[in-house]
Amino acid sequence: MTIQTIATQPFLDQKPGTSGLRKQVQVFQKPHYLQNFVQAIFDSLEGYQGQTLVVGGDGRYYNREAIQIILKMAAANGFGRVLVGRGGILSTPAASCVIRKYGAFGGIILSASHNPGGPDGDFGIKYNISNGGPAPEKVTEAIYARSKTIDRYLVLDAPDIDLDKTGILTLGEMTVEVIDSVSDYAQLMESLFDFDRIRELLTSGRFRMCMDSLHAVTGPYAHRIFEQQLGAPAGTVQNGVPLEDFGGGHPDPNLVYAHDLVEVLYGDNAPDFGAASDGDGDRNMVLGRRFFVTPSDSLAILAANAKLVPGYRNGLAGIARSMPTSQAPDRVAAQLGIDCYETPTGWKFFGNLLDADRATLCGEESFGTGSNHIREKDGLWAVLFWLNILAVRQQPVEEIVREHWKTYGRNYYSRHDYEGVDSDRANTMMTNLRSLAPTLKGKTFGNYTVEYGDDFSYTDPVDGSVSQKQGIRIGFTDGSRVVFRLSGTGTQGATVRVYLESYEPDPAKQDQDPQVALADLIAIAEEVAQLRATTGMDKPTVIT
Ligand code: G1P
Ligand code: ZN
Repeated sequence: MTIQTIATQPFLDQKPGTSGLRKQVQVFQKPHYLQNFVQAIFDSLEGYQGQTLVVGGDGRYYNREAIQIILKMAAANGFGRVLVGRGGILSTPAASCVIRKYGAFGGIILSASHNPGGPDGDFGIKYNISNGGPAPEKVTEAIYARSKTIDRYLVLDAPDIDLDKTGILTLGEMTVEVIDSVSDYAQLMESLFDFDRIRELLTSGRFRMCMDSLHAVTGPYAHRIFEQQLGAPAGTVQNGVPLEDFGGGHPDPNLVYAHDLVEVLYGDNAPDFGAASDGDGDRNMVLGRRFFVTPSDSLAILAANAKLVPGYRNGLAGIARSMPTSQAPDRVAAQLGIDCYETPTGWKFFGNLLDADRATLCGEESFGTGSNHIREKDGLWAVLFWLNILAVRQQPVEEIVREHWKTYGRNYYSRHDYEGVDSDRANTMMTNLRSLAPTLKGKTFGNYTVEYGDDFSYTDPVDGSVSQKQGIRIGFTDGSRVVFRLSGTGTQGATVRVYLESYEPDPAKQDQDPQVALADLIAIAEEVAQLRATTGMDKPTVIT
């Protein structure tokens, strides 16, 4: 087996977004495209010779081919060992777990998360560092810079390896260990949650749950953990076989894309608890019987109940949430006397806070919740956390949420997405908002008076790094907010995200439809951003 040096030319569009490089499959299939990016990753790292790399993905179309390429490139570039999930499967949280557990130098995760898969869908690749978390901006910037000058990559001339049997193989000088995709992750979950109590709940005959894996990566994990280890009846996990195109669906666990689950939970004879996860297993949606828990509330409720869960019994160091996430967790943090950090969108910003033990729980409004157990958000972890709370409190989901609102007030919350917007128009809108926002201070819109308007900038309290232009915020004197951002994960045109939040302390007024409760703020968002004119749409494409 010889190491080949292949001459190549840079592609100029390999800038990692919110979560790695995401493009349509066809783009990744262009000759040298994937190889260039992988080599750009390796070239911007130092000290990995002889070290361990973790590789795995969400099983989407092109996963297997990409893994064979990456293994041969890792061998040619001098890695000592690669740990790869069987069949090329590792959920994003499992990859983070494996990187940490085995002291790997880093990991490459192949996924475009919740974006559709298949030959006409999306593919993605991201690099995670030794703490198990997404590479911070200085690393992704170095990768991007290298991708613009790259002129060669290294690859071992070797046959493909068998990914479908666990065991130890060699590729040139490098060892390849094909590992069980689930075991390490399942063990970690067992160390955090009261499995005995959850098993009691799931086998009591008084409680039914339904988990929809949306034909994505969590299928094998959910089967093993819920059905085999925790005794839930067979059939609890639906759509549990990962498919390369996710069965043609959109593997995003929200009310729109996980509609089958929503119908079950809102139907006759609904189960007590429903959950779904996304393409790569890091997102979660949680439902009670005829009841939806917003991700922001979920984070707040997990924090408020953390003492009921063995892994968090000793209390929380702090909570971190992304800026557009509602301020519900802030109220819990205040009550607990701990810090609540507000970071830019994207899990990479939580890494330093978790490493420095400043935050224990983290979350984003986009159906992402997690903790210091790994350095990614974690869908099944959130589901298990809820199950642990339900097993201890023995109350329905809805009752737990309503009690929470009574104690802390309700943060009405919604996100309106306008997808597939012309990029130039979207950028112009953001530029206009950027200059308009600061001038709005003191201005009144109906009952709302603007307290501040800015473009969110974040200074990392651990390393002092500054991230600018993270979203336009318009904050009102009563704590309500409207936030505008452009998505950093889309692959076609621009996606405009509008985040809306208001606060209702009065329990008698906590029962409204969020779209009704937020109607005034929705109108203000239209007035300041001219969304209809900009997007050419009269309503958002997705409301969550
Ligand atoms: C979206 C979410 C963000 C999440 C990211 C990766 O990014 O909004 O919270 O971290 O996906 O799952 P966006 O498309 O908004 O840049
Ligand atoms: Zn994801």
